[in-house]
Amino acid sequence: MSAIKISENVYEVGVQDPDLKIFDITMPTEYGTTYNSYLVIGEKVALIDAVKKEFTDQFFANIEEIIPIDKIDYLIVNHTEPDHSGAIPALLERNPNIKLIASATAVPYVKAVINCEADLTGVKDKHELDLGGKTLTFRLMPYMHWPDTMMEYLAEDKILFSNDGFAAHVCSETLWADEVPAEVDLDHQIYYYWDCIMRPFSGFIRRNLLKLDDHEIEMIATSHGPLFRKNARSIIDKYKEWTADKSEGSEQISIFYASNYGNTEKLAIGMADELTNQNFTPVLVDATNVESDRVKELIESSKAIMIGTPTFNGDAVKPIWDLTMHFSTVYSIGKKAAVFGSYGWGGEGTKLVAARLSGLKLKVFEEEFRARLIPSGDEMNDLKSYVERLAQYFRAGK
Ligand code: FEO
Repeated sequence: MSAIKISENVYEVGVQDPDLKIFDITMPTEYGTTYNSYLVIGEKVALIDAVKKEFTDQFFANIEEIIPIDKIDYLIVNHTEPDHSGAIPALLERNPNIKLIASATAVPYVKAVINCEADLTGVKDKHELDLGGKTLTFRLMPYMHWPDTMMEYLAEDKILFSNDGFAAHVCSETLWADEVPAEVDLDHQIYYYWDCIMRPFSGFIRRNLLKLDDHEIEMIATSHGPLFRKNARSIIDKYKEWTADKSEGSEQISIFYASNYGNTEKLAIGMADELTNQNFTPVLVDATNVESDRVKELIESSKAIMIGTPTFNGDAVKPIWDLTMHFSTVYSIGKKAAVFGSYGWGGEGTKLVAARLSGLKLKVFEEEFRARLIPSGDEMNDLKSYVERLAQYFRAGK
């Protein structure tokens, strides 16, 4: 696709990658993607974002339909993931006088991308760049998608350049969301992108989104997929809905467990009964028979999480390890957790799972509860006093 005018002296000059089958190793991309980039031309010229390295030649050709590369004054680096930064070294070779502008957080990342001397400025939130007739206001948006990420608002044209935010991996004939063919189901693709890319950072994103209330936004120009020129606010509202804190005010405790001979299950049921007595709402979940979407939903909606695992061969069991893979796919940082399980001799499984959850930045109760083989009456009494201590931990602070 060639350069396309999106407003007066504002052009989309990015590239298409219709054959991309998978993004970031884990995300299938049925409709390929695009790497969008924008030229904003005032008395000075700014280029917003670059593209993936493999598309450098097409990128340069698109830019030069509008303006020679040596006339670019600024490159705005919104995010340093290689799909947007790959062409920067080649761009600097063509025009070493370009001034780079990134978020203050991004500065070391940019240096690690270019590996050469350059005029590089790290900006704070609300910093303005006056291009002469075009004014960019930078809004720092950490974790939309990386800590480095920022967006710009172009006041004269009411355009938000949102980088990965509000994007979709959709490559089609048109640049505009309102013209994407119905069979693509763009609404689903926008949700799918949010689910895969943005959902793990929901807690950061819901705070970032408030910054956009400062601006009258008529168009959202993303870095992947189509641009929104009609009802652009609605996509911001969708993100607000999706990133809302689902556990606010919740007394739900999800108890995920795996059990071969029924011993860890007996502990799980005992935990649920005692948590009920403590006025929590436990949800028992067999980790060997639960869908990923349900696990993600339960993690997000629970006040705290419990995991029960037996110990086999000095380890926790595979369904429990598979379950722990879900915590980094949603916003679970700081969520409280506890671990329990039945064991025969070593009982290492609970310690390994507790360490894994701590590594994922959950706040894990310092005591694990373990019972040897078939839980005895004494051990079930111990469980009751354990849950009393655990309940205090779950209720304390945040
Ligand atoms: Fe489109 Fe996070 O890169």
